[in-house]
Amino acid sequence: MMQSIAVTDIHGNVRIYELLLRVAATWKATSLFITGDLAPSAILESSPGECADGAALQRDFFCHDFIPLFEAFLVNHRHTDVYVIMGNDDRRANEELLLAFDQRVSNFHLINDRLVELRESRQMKRFFPDDVSMLYVCGYPYVTPGAGLLMDWVKYDNGLHLRPAGMDPCADLFEAGIHSVPIDGRETRTTIADDLARFETFMQRTHTNSSNRPGRLPYDPARTIHLFHSPPYGTQLDLAAPFGSVDRVRRNEHVGSSEIRRFIERTQPYLVLCGHCHESAVLGSYRDQLGETRCVNPGSQTHLNVLSLVQFDVEDPTKMTQLYVNAD
Ligand SMILES: [Fe+2]
Repeated sequence: MMQSIAVTDIHGNVRIYELLLRVAATWKATSLFITGDLAPSAILESSPGECADGAALQRDFFCHDFIPLFEAFLVNHRHTDVYVIMGNDDRRANEELLLAFDQRVSNFHLINDRLVELRESRQMKRFFPDDVSMLYVCGYPYVTPGAGLLMDWVKYDNGLHLRPAGMDPCADLFEAGIHSVPIDGRETRTTIADDLARFETFMQRTHTNSSNRPGRLPYDPARTIHLFHSPPYGTQLDLAAPFGSVDRVRRNEHVGSSEIRRFIERTQPYLVLCGHCHESAVLGSYRDQLGETRCVNPGSQTHLNVLSLVQFDVEDPTKMTQLYVNAD
């Protein structure tokens, strides 16, 4: 069985989304995973008014394209479940919109900071209670600084507080950047290392605001598919095109998270799906291995109207194929 699909960084390309759903229907996909950067990249400007317009532009996309497209598909394909996280280009102001969609359509799952059951494994377990163990899916959308001015999903990797090369050393990264939601009232700013050190608690704490969330699920990394927007650092999955140099020091072409890598090495999740680095599948590979954990970044060629996807079997994630499908 090879009926699961992973994609990432479609950035609001409606033709790519339509093609993706046609492919999912043709293959009778049971699970579709999207690891962030769902909406068109709004032009990032520094004034608060233009920031609001960026959120409005993405809201239009979610209201008029993304949600109607997925709703029409999901109500007609009840055997397919879609698991989604947002990415660093997606304004968090629209998270509530997607959460409302999640609550209205039972086979759409927004899993920012959340842990849910993989529905197809629940169904399999009903048929084969003794032979199948449950699988779960969780999501963590945050990236390290340096990928843009929007700070909604940016956290320092760890206590070193590494900043983008060349940035004014006196500027406060989070003060200088753009937030589509106020940072006051949200959790005290933590690092990726902090969150992942107590990941189960982190997920439980951050999704208590919804009334119809499932109760507390057991978190076992070995039985959980992890969706990260950021790839793990220093792998085949986190390569960006050469950036040149700053003060004659060549910039690193690996831009992933060291702490996500450490977390994967420490906890050995069942499967890791990530995104963020569009060209990694070309410059490196769509897959890499950290210990026993298979890690995948499907990459993105959405700017060429090409869908980059990875097809795999959730019961045996080593059975995996990457495909490019032209939408033209
Ligand atoms: Fe992206």
